[in-house]
Amino acid sequence: MAVTSRTRVGIVGAGPAGLLLAHLLALHGIESVVVENRSREYCEARQRAGLLEAGTVELLRGVGLGKRLDAEGMEHGGIYLQFDGQRHHLDFRSLTDGRWVTIYAQTEIVKDMIAARLAAGAVIEFSASDVAVSDVTSDRPVLSYRDASGVAHEVSCDVIAGCDGFHGICRPLVPNLSVYERAYPYAWLGILADAAPSTDELIYSRHRDGFALYSMRSPEVSRLYLQVAPDEPVADWPDDRIWAELQKRFAVDGWSVSEGTITDKSVTAMRSFVAVPMRHGRLFLAGDAAHIVPPTGAKGLNLAFSDVIVLAGALRAALLDGSWELAGAYSDMCLDRVWRATHFSWWMTSMLHVAPGQDPFESQLQLAQLRYVTSSRAAAKSLAENYCGYKPLSLQAPA
Ligand code: APR
Ligand code: PHB
Repeated sequence: MAVTSRTRVGIVGAGPAGLLLAHLLALHGIESVVVENRSREYCEARQRAGLLEAGTVELLRGVGLGKRLDAEGMEHGGIYLQFDGQRHHLDFRSLTDGRWVTIYAQTEIVKDMIAARLAAGAVIEFSASDVAVSDVTSDRPVLSYRDASGVAHEVSCDVIAGCDGFHGICRPLVPNLSVYERAYPYAWLGILADAAPSTDELIYSRHRDGFALYSMRSPEVSRLYLQVAPDEPVADWPDDRIWAELQKRFAVDGWSVSEGTITDKSVTAMRSFVAVPMRHGRLFLAGDAAHIVPPTGAKGLNLAFSDVIVLAGALRAALLDGSWELAGAYSDMCLDRVWRATHFSWWMTSMLHVAPGQDPFESQLQLAQLRYVTSSRAAAKSLAENYCGYKPLSLQAPA
């Protein structure tokens, strides 16, 4: 016999989307339960991109999650674009109305949110198994799971939030889903290295042998990526080969990538994916459960948080005021921003990567586009506006 209980919102997944949703709902006085099939340690160690739009930083500050972010996050007022062996700076502050981005690793945001939930006395069911959702077209959907010690639970909810990422169980519950996708013929080999970054801002480099990105995690830790084949075995990349390839793809006169001990190495596939609609009955999808962007535009986490802001507002109206109008508009409201970010991420990706067998015509188009964004203020402004966050959402003050 399962242990039965009742909550208002059942949240599947303790990634950034699920954790932020639980946090915002709690600020509105709405109870939720978060069920996660991985361990807390796994969730806190998963390496992902770490670039926050200013709107995302302001959101996190506004809801009490800004303390460590403010102390440790690194504000960047622009990026470098490199091609044909030349490095060009784009100054976002002057191209936009003073906007900027912050480097703060997703692992740290996840740690901060887990700590905040637990400090508030909330329960996050880590290491759950047999997670399932049912009755989403009734007004009492059920979230069932087996907890870490093997006890079966059935939680009766008003609403279920599917924040369970790309491989989750919630998206398949939406019937007649339209799926739009693009798999790219390359992947990113990402490393973390104990090396002080030799750049003050991120470098996006298009090299004829493939793209490379120079990012960072702190003044002592670099995060670097190399374009590789989608099925590239990590084992084919001993440390020496990685550093040599990075030095080559970032080469400019009188400058080099600073090297150090590599502490993490992994290969991530690149895809664009959008599932429509993001709601079915009382089930709402948010974040990677509904859409994926390639990391070149650094939009994934920001988009997931935008969904959650819209969802928290809609659930507040529905569950506290009995008005389901915003809930009805949820999918369309999110998809407007999702498609803009999908276009930007695809565009950045296509401009900077060299596809296997790419013909010279395409290479010339990429270089023409790169020369355009680094010489036309209007073109640079468009890149900067998208990179810093197009139409950032502001948080509705909790009641
Ligand atoms: N039951 C419970 N939890 C599940 C299940 C399941 N069946 N399937 C997946 N999960 C969990 C995953 O283990 C993960 O912790 O759901 C969580 C989903 O988290 P993310 O994949 O991080 O997705 P999301 O919260 O939407 O965050 C989006 O992730 O991919 C990046 O760039 C993206 O930064 C963005 C962020
Ligand atoms: C990162 O720091 O991991 C990062 C930054 C910018 C990107 C992608 C990843 O576009």
